[in-house]
Amino acid sequence: MNSSGPLIHGRRFVPYISRDRIAEKVAELAGRISADYAGERPMLLVVLNGAMPFAVALMQQLTVDVELCCIRYASYVGTSSTGTGKEVIGLPEERLKGRRVIVVEDIVDTGRTIAYLHERLQACGVKDSEVAALTFKRGKYLGTLPIRYIGFEIEDAFVVGFGMDYDEYGRQYPDIYQLEE
Ligand code: IMP
Repeated sequence: MNSSGPLIHGRRFVPYISRDRIAEKVAELAGRISADYAGERPMLLVVLNGAMPFAVALMQQLTVDVELCCIRYASYVGTSSTGTGKEVIGLPEERLKGRRVIVVEDIVDTGRTIAYLHERLQACGVKDSEVAALTFKRGKYLGTLPIRYIGFEIEDAFVVGFGMDYDEYGRQYPDIYQLEE
């Protein structure tokens, strides 16, 4: 990495959101979540791999007890003409009934991922579910679900770092970078 930012798969990324701003924002979100769920024990549903650093940082600042559960999406090739689709792995269906759930995401882009997850959670009989997203591309959002806890609203630029990747590279950076124009 040079002073401007990392070079990943031949593309230059430049500094966008510093680790200090991320830490401040995580503390703010954790404060809100702790107040909203005071006296309760929500389930944090962490969407791997990208949400891992955000989930760890957030969890450590919460003053409420949580149950932690990690899930991931796997792409599969559909048998119908619709082609590829996605499937959730690791959803603890038997423990979701009546629970309050917070889906933890590194980034919400079109919103397809959280919309699909929301449907699955409803089908499992959760009491309610909210989304905590470190970053949100409002300009690209096609969904209707409100996102209760938003870290940063970002422009429609590709970002990496703090869990987010460009083709599986860049997740380890403690700051967030955006693709240089
Ligand atoms: P969705 O469109 O909201 O369903 O988001 C799908 C996924 O696209 C996210 O979970 C990320 O894995 C990926 N994604 C979208 N925009 C970015 C980005 O700027 N950087 C890294 N990953 C992204």
